[in-house]
Amino acid sequence: MVSFDIIGNIAIFESKEKENEKRITEEIMKKHKNIIAIYKKVSGREGEFRLRKLKLIAGKNISVTTHKEYGCLFKLNVRKVYFSPREATERVRVAEKINEYKKFQNNVGERAIIFFAGVGPYPIIISKRCDLREIIGIEKNPIAIKYFRENIMLNKVKNVMPILGDVKEKSKEYKNFADFIVMPLPESGWKYLKDAMACLRNGGVCFFYAIGEEKNLYEKWEDKIFSTCKRIGKNVKILDKRKVLPFGVRTWKIRIDFQIED
Ligand SMILES: C[S@@+](CC[C@H](N)C(=O)[O-])C[C@H]1O[C@@H](n2cnc3c(N)ncnc32)[C@H](O)[C@@H]1O
Repeated sequence: MVSFDIIGNIAIFESKEKENEKRITEEIMKKHKNIIAIYKKVSGREGEFRLRKLKLIAGKNISVTTHKEYGCLFKLNVRKVYFSPREATERVRVAEKINEYKKFQNNVGERAIIFFAGVGPYPIIISKRCDLREIIGIEKNPIAIKYFRENIMLNKVKNVMPILGDVKEKSKEYKNFADFIVMPLPESGWKYLKDAMACLRNGGVCFFYAIGEEKNLYEKWEDKIFSTCKRIGKNVKILDKRKVLPFGVRTWKIRIDFQIED
């Protein structure tokens, strides 16, 4: 069976072999009656906005849809922004972790920054599930920020603020600000570790994503976290680490939660 994602009323499938597109289309239509457009992935994720090329195989030439995830609504254009429904469970897990870590922060856990926020799924899910005062989401793709703003309205969240810009630049305005930072850019998020550490308050927790090789999933990234922290003269404690999703051949998307202290 071919693998496919459903985003709102759009289906996107992946097929390496020259399979019968008509058969795949019928299979998807049979299982999901509300689908109005079926696209095939024709490239990997590319560029800093992490977009992929899609080819319309069946249905209407429509690429804007509204996706429902854990009671939240996310409007987006599948051609112009990053969004993966496969990460839904992970977003909820992070919200639950924030609630867990908040307990040992003696209720000072009030502010979160989501680097690489996309159309806002992390900030909005966290806003709905955690009692935080303020959640900032930084995103560089102007089209993603447009949908992020719409999604704030759609979900009626009051404590989420979208910021358009590069994390390298915009994070400078939030030194010693955050109790929590989420870094959902596994391929190159490590380049922003120092920026995340600078934004964290004493005792703050970072959810860091990376790509780990199966034979040694975490060690390389733990070393990176320790050495970066040492360079800025702070201490770090690893709180948790886990496999999130398979990424490629013998590689995994992983998450390491760490806490920094003076
Ligand atoms: C892997 S996607 C994650 C999006 C979102 N958090 C989600 O879960 O759907 C990474 C996002 O980071 C954005 N991005 C990449 N580099 C960035 C940078 N330097 N500053 C701000 N945003 C960036 C991309 O445009 C993309 O939307």
